[in-house]
Amino acid sequence: MYANPLRVGLETERVAPPCAFVIFGASGDLTRRKLIPALYNLNVSRLLPASFAMIGFANTESTTEQFRENMHVGTAQFSRRKPVEDATWLDFASRLHYVTGTFEDAAAYARLREKLEELDQTAGTRGNRIYYLAIPPSLFPMAIENLAKAGLVSDPNDRSRFTRIIVEKPFGRDLASGDALNHQLHKGFAESQIFRIDHYLGKETVQNLLAFRFGNEIFEPLWNRNHIDHVQISVAEDIGVEGRGKFYEEAGTTRDIVQNHLLQLLMVMAMEPPAAFEADAVRDEKVKVLRALRPIVGESVSKLTVRGQYAHGSFAGKPVVGYREEPNVSPHSMIETYVAMKLEVDNWRWAGVPIYIRAGKRLTKRSTEISIHFKRVPHSLLSPKEPITPDVLALRIQPDDGISLRFMAKVPGPSMILRPVNMDFHYGTTFAESSPEAYERLNLDCMLGDPTLFARADEVSAAWRFITPVIEAWQHGVQPTFPNYHAGTWGPDDAARLIERDGRAWRRL
Ligand code: BG6
Repeated sequence: MYANPLRVGLETERVAPPCAFVIFGASGDLTRRKLIPALYNLNVSRLLPASFAMIGFANTESTTEQFRENMHVGTAQFSRRKPVEDATWLDFASRLHYVTGTFEDAAAYARLREKLEELDQTAGTRGNRIYYLAIPPSLFPMAIENLAKAGLVSDPNDRSRFTRIIVEKPFGRDLASGDALNHQLHKGFAESQIFRIDHYLGKETVQNLLAFRFGNEIFEPLWNRNHIDHVQISVAEDIGVEGRGKFYEEAGTTRDIVQNHLLQLLMVMAMEPPAAFEADAVRDEKVKVLRALRPIVGESVSKLTVRGQYAHGSFAGKPVVGYREEPNVSPHSMIETYVAMKLEVDNWRWAGVPIYIRAGKRLTKRSTEISIHFKRVPHSLLSPKEPITPDVLALRIQPDDGISLRFMAKVPGPSMILRPVNMDFHYGTTFAESSPEAYERLNLDCMLGDPTLFARADEVSAAWRFITPVIEAWQHGVQPTFPNYHAGTWGPDDAARLIERDGRAWRRL
């Protein structure tokens, strides 16, 4: 019996086929925090196949027993379902294995192969393999070459078994390196075998945006330049760089968030309805949005983009250090921790509708949201003295996932006075169920061979084609005065000016 009638019909048969799931770099943080808890929860949801095995591969010496114990500690801490019951854990843990080896050592791949073949027999994994590269991209070429040499990659046309590879961002650091990385991957794997993870696509609320747009009749007719004044997309984080100073000095917010997560949100918001909900049909429409983005080059870079870097400030009443004081960050760093841009999608649906985007660390609060700001009514019939506030549809990706519509209503009383009010849908309370983590959905989709929610090579390339000229212009142009916003605020003043120049304002999140 379902406690909540809205969930009836939600359980679908999406059990994955038998397979071995190999994580390269299994001693790292991602495995303990995200990947193993995700696989564990898939097991609890009975979505893992009965014939499933996971092999951790890393250069840290460890036995299978020690690996299982470490993963138990990680899962107890990071699983969305708590507590982790002993019986459920033991069932799952019996499927975990570990092989020690360095990525350059051919003998280690031979040991991996032996283990995989043994598991084909004992666990029934039937020669199906998924390799998850949770390692720095600089190690990809070596891993890909050694996998191929060890005979660990099956032919993409072999229908009796499959080999798939999952790669994590960063997918390069500009157009040239992104394309070079794709080239490397294509040396060992066909595009149909490559699953590029952008965990934003695995978020329930991002998928709900597709459901909202294409599962309802009433919104789509409004979803265009005739009714929409502008769109805002915000990825605000309250955290700083969380000990990842070294990584951030290489990446900055543009490479870390904008090129991937934020552009993914833009694509899903702006794409045309695909012919079918199938991987290539969806991704074809998504990539068209990127191709229609008006390039930001030359003089327009300084007009349409703003960079920021946080200085010390306070958060929840406690002092926090500035970016330049974070460990492994240069005291003169010119890396951005905040970006705002004004974008234009030059196609029939969106021409003339500005899309303002912003992303930043150490902002006032954590909030990811897409807001659709509708045009003003053509004639203020009911409220001639007071301006009518335009309607806003806010799609809250996180936290407090949901959708709200702000519209005008009459204030009770003898006069016709209008005020904006909100109609609100909250995911959590409506479905009374904790949403699966992005990594659960994405790992399961990979096992099922469904790449709809993964980034295709041309998508990554198109994203870099748009972003690279901006990054290059920043390098060669006039440098901003950093730091230029305090931790715990909404970012630099210039970001407010970027949108205020057009007579608009950032939405309060
Ligand atoms: C990661 C970035 O990809 O996404 C991090 O590297 C960022 O810097 C994180 O904090 C945000 O993810 P989420 O799911 O918390 O919005």
